Amino acid sequence: MNRGGVRIAPSLLSADFGRLRDEIAMCEAGGADWLHVDVMDGHFVPNLTFGAKVIETVRGLTTLPLDVHLMVEHPGQFFEDFAKAGASGMTVHVESTPHIHRDLCRVKALGCWAGVVINPGTPCAALEAIVTEVDLVLIMSVDPGYGGQAFIPTSIDKIRQARALLDAAGSGATLEVDGGINRETIARCAAAGADAFVAGHAIFAAADPRAEIGELRRQTLVAV
Ligand code: DX5
Ligand code: ZN
Repeated sequence: MNRGGVRIAPSLLSADFGRLRDEIAMCEAGGADWLHVDVMDGHFVPNLTFGAKVIETVRGLTTLPLDVHLMVEHPGQFFEDFAKAGASGMTVHVESTPHIHRDLCRVKALGCWAGVVINPGTPCAALEAIVTEVDLVLIMSVDPGYGGQAFIPTSIDKIRQARALLDAAGSGATLEVDGGINRETIARCAAAGADAFVAGHAIFAAADPRAEIGELRRQTLVAV
């Protein structure tokens, strides 16, 4: 995965699953770069979503890269199945595994991009030892589990710190932010150094979801 420009990743968590095909087509028509797929297990986070079967279904509906965010305990038990189902990248919480280095190596060995993610309560220091191993760093800007939550303002500083870590390591990894991203928050995240942006509620609850994807992209260019 090469670094290159802004990426907007609609989170399917906020999509209408009864109209999944149309929702995905809307994301494509709006110029989405990736689709963000939130896997939750009811243990690591207090909510349940879906697994390999739905990833496979989504894979069959689009050629867009699938950015799979694992909010599960024992993430390693899913890597093979999710890769086979069509995940393009898998992002693993440092809080969910004692073996983040091994897990990231396994994800890469499956031909997927390897991402690491930290919760709002986890300092950026948790990234230091693995920053050279990753294709993507994700900063959670809400406590994971639900769409539609308010952006946590201290996330801006964490994005800045993560950007500094990546730059100091000479890493070309993508720096993604997830949670509460909307027209108001996205510009500050971009200015702080993020280059990939997950948005669920802001896109799917917009009056014109297709246009909103372009509007979010436009806002990343606004000076703050
Ligand atoms: C939160 C998920 C997010 C969520 C974002 O646990 O990881 O991807 O869908 O939704 P919004 O953009 O509505 O905060
Ligand atoms: Zn997510």
